[in-house]
Amino acid sequence: MGQRVNDLMGWVNARFPLTKMWDEHLAKYYAPKNFNFWYFFGSLAIMVLVIQVLSGIFLAMFYKPDTALAFQSVEMNIMRDVDWGWLIRYFHSTGASAFFIVVYMHMFRGLLYSSYKKPRELVWIFGVLIFLALMAEGFMGYLLPWGQMSFWGAQVIINLVSAIPFVGDDLSTWVRGDFVIGDATLNRFFSLHIVAIPLILIGLIVAHIIALHEVGSNNPDGIEIKKNKDENGIPKDGIPFHPYYSVKDIVGVVVFLMFFSIVVFFIPEMFGYFLEHANFTPANPLKTPEHIAPVWYFTPYYSILRAVPSIAGSAFPGVIAMGAAIVVLFFLPWLDRNPVKSIRYRANWYKILVALFVVAFITLGYLGTKAPTDMRTLVARVCTFYYFAFFLLMPIYTKLEKNKPVPERVTMK
Ligand code: HEM
Repeated sequence: MGQRVNDLMGWVNARFPLTKMWDEHLAKYYAPKNFNFWYFFGSLAIMVLVIQVLSGIFLAMFYKPDTALAFQSVEMNIMRDVDWGWLIRYFHSTGASAFFIVVYMHMFRGLLYSSYKKPRELVWIFGVLIFLALMAEGFMGYLLPWGQMSFWGAQVIINLVSAIPFVGDDLSTWVRGDFVIGDATLNRFFSLHIVAIPLILIGLIVAHIIALHEVGSNNPDGIEIKKNKDENGIPKDGIPFHPYYSVKDIVGVVVFLMFFSIVVFFIPEMFGYFLEHANFTPANPLKTPEHIAPVWYFTPYYSILRAVPSIAGSAFPGVIAMGAAIVVLFFLPWLDRNPVKSIRYRANWYKILVALFVVAFITLGYLGTKAPTDMRTLVARVCTFYYFAFFLLMPIYTKLEKNKPVPERVTMK
C-alpha cells in the first residue's frame, strides 16, 4: 500500500509540483515560533471565506434576483420552506459580520507589529485591496434580500456617486443601470456578488499569501527571523508551519466556531446589528425609513462621510473624506518612519496614540449607527480629525519616538 502511494505521488510530482508546493507553503515554511493570539485571524479569515462560499452556493439555488420575488424568496422560501434554509441563511448573514470582525482584528495586528513595513509592503497592499473588495461584496450582497434597508442603503450610497462634479449623474445612472434602483440594479449586484467579486477576492488572497511566503511572516517581536539562520539555512527562531501552526490554527477554528454557532443559533440578528430590523419589511421606493444606517461594519466610514460638512449642498467633500480614509491605508508602509516594528519596543506615548485611534474608530462606528444630532456630529468631527491626524502626522511623530532596546532573538513572553 505504502509503495503504491509513493508511486502515485511520484507520478503526480513528475507532472504537477504537489510535494514542492506542500513543502514550500506548509511543511517547510518556517514561521516564527512566537506567534500569539493576534496570529489566528489570517487563517480564520480563510475559514470564514469558505463558510461564505459554501453557504452562498446553496442560497443561490433558491434565491430569485427579481424585484418582485427577491424578498419572498429569502424571507418565505429560504427562511421557512427550504429544509434547513434558515440555517444556511444565518450562516451567510452571520458570516458577513464575522468576516469583518476577523479582518478588522487581522488589520489591527498589522498595526500593532508594523507588519506593513519593509519587506511586507505588498502583503499589506494586497490586504487593503482585499478590504476594498470585501466592502464591495458586503454592499452588493445587502441589496439582495430587497428589504427596506437594502433598498434605501443602496439609494444613499449610489446617490453619493451623483455628488461627483460633472460626471456624477451619468455615473450613478450607469451604476444603477436605470434612473432608479430597480431590476437592472438587483440583477447586476447579484451577478457581481456571486461571481465577479468572489473571484477577485480569491485571486487577491492567493496573491496576499504568495507575497507573504516570499518574504516570510513578521511576529510579535517584529524581528526578521531570516537574519538568524542555522548551518542548514533554517531560521533558528522558525518552526515548520505544518504541523505546529496547522494544529494551533485548528484550535483557533474550533473556538471561533463555538462563538459563531452561538450567534447563528441564538442571536442571528444581533439586536439589529447583523440583520437590521427595517430589512424585515419589503423594499418600498415610496416610503423612506425614518433612519437609514448601513450595517455596523460600514458605520465608521459612514460617520466620516456625515462628519464632513457639505459645500453648496453637495456631499462631495464627505465622499472624498470617506474614500481618503481607506486610501490612506495604502500609504501606511511609507507614513510610519520608525525602523522598529513591534509596538512592544516603541515609545509609550505611541501606544497611547494607537489606543486613542481604536477609541476614535469604535466611536465613529457607534455614531454611524445613530441618527445625527449636533453633539454627535461634533464628536464625529473630532474622531474624524483624529483618524486622519493619526496617519498623516505619522511621518513627523514616528521620527521623534525613543524606542526601547529590541532583542536579537524572538522572545516567548
Ligand atoms: C479575506 C481576507 C484576508 C485573508 C484570508 C488573509 C489571510 C492571511 C493569512 C492566512 C496570513 C498569514 C497568517 C497570519 O499572519 O495571520 C496573512 C498575513 C497578513 N495579512 Fe492578511 N488576509 C486577509 C485580509 C487582510 C487585510 C485586509 C490586510 C490589511 C489591510 C491584511 C494584511 C496582512 C499582513 C500585513 C500580513 C502579514 C502579517 C505578519 O506577518 O505579521 N490581510 N493574511
